[in-house]
Amino acid sequence: MSATLWELRLDQDCKTSSLWPLDFFNGLLDFLPHTTRPVQARWQDLHGGGGMEAEGAGEVVLIAGCGYVGSALARILVKQEREVWGLRRRAELLPDGVRAVHGDVLEADDLAPFPDSVSQVVYAISPDTRDVEAYRRAYVQGLERLLERLERDGSPLARVVLVTSTAVYGERSGEWVDEETPAEPRDFRGRILLESEEVLRQAQVPGVILRLGGIYGPGRTRTVDRVRNSEAQCGPGPAYTNRIHRDDAAGALAHLLFHSEPRDLYVGVDEAPEDRCVVYRWLADALGVPPPDRGGEGGPGGATGKRCSSRRLQRSGYRFVYPTFREGYAALL
Ligand SMILES: NC(=O)c1ccc[n+]([C@@H]2O[C@H](COP(=O)([O-])OP(=O)(O)OC[C@H]3O[C@@H](n4cnc5c(N)ncnc54)[C@H](OP(=O)(O)O)[C@@H]3O)[C@@H](O)[C@H]2O)c1
Repeated sequence: MSATLWELRLDQDCKTSSLWPLDFFNGLLDFLPHTTRPVQARWQDLHGGGGMEAEGAGEVVLIAGCGYVGSALARILVKQEREVWGLRRRAELLPDGVRAVHGDVLEADDLAPFPDSVSQVVYAISPDTRDVEAYRRAYVQGLERLLERLERDGSPLARVVLVTSTAVYGERSGEWVDEETPAEPRDFRGRILLESEEVLRQAQVPGVILRLGGIYGPGRTRTVDRVRNSEAQCGPGPAYTNRIHRDDAAGALAHLLFHSEPRDLYVGVDEAPEDRCVVYRWLADALGVPPPDRGGEGGPGGATGKRCSSRRLQRSGYRFVYPTFREGYAALL
């Protein structure tokens, strides 16, 4: 069974409204600059739902790595009255309503209790330390062990969503990148993330990869703290950064888990990559502290970093709660 998504459109005064198929608007978004978009409200927001398709209800979701993002996702899915299992070593930290798979994903073979009819999986395990071995355990070996367990159990997998990172892109001169850009990482982190993606591609499961940018949100306010403490520094030229609020990372995962026809790869960043210095100055203004100067000797420098585009995710129907850092940080201050 397939479902058409409808979007309710209100005019700027909220006086008139109309219902349109979402796909129609996804096409139009290409031509509308962000600032001139009509006021948007999602049908499910207005009706207290939040789910993409009601037909997903009743399925069994396993979130492996139910931490910062995974727990936010779990809360969305529990609210949708889905059966949600969270896998982590400190299972006592799982949110209410989530059933525990307690233990190490590297020992997935022996974990019990374990749901016996998993239909949807999100893999969002992060490494314990920042070295090659820890990365390989978290992203490659853990995923292999879990997929083996699910295969052994004969789990009726409808979807496996793997979280990786925009670190797979090696660009660093301000270039735009998206899902079509060849991933050519510059360090072991990006290379191991690509290995992880390859594990999923080689597995005989319906897989979707979401490459997240830097995650921020409640309790993850390092950038805000650095500006508040006057520790933030600007470079001589634009240094592009890409981020996503925790709630959008979780929202995008929920969206992709039950999307009727997802692509196999998405970039998960908000709608506006931004020069780090612009973010710092906006925050300094909001916090009422002195702005960092644009430093560096010898005049303006060239651009650094990369600009990641989440256009594919937007066109798939996902609407950001926090489309830019401004909305996201304003909610945290
Ligand atoms: N942070 C960022 O800015 C960023 C950017 C791009 C992508 N990502 C990726 O996005 C994903 C989600 O990130 P996050 O911030 O939500 O990570 P997180 O808060 O560190 O959550 C990851 C969870 O994985 C669990 N875990 C780690 N090793 C495990 C193991 N061997 N067995 C079972 N559970 C294990 C941890 O719980 P226990 O310790 O209780 O086991 C933790 O709760 C990760 O894959 C991360 O690498 C993060």
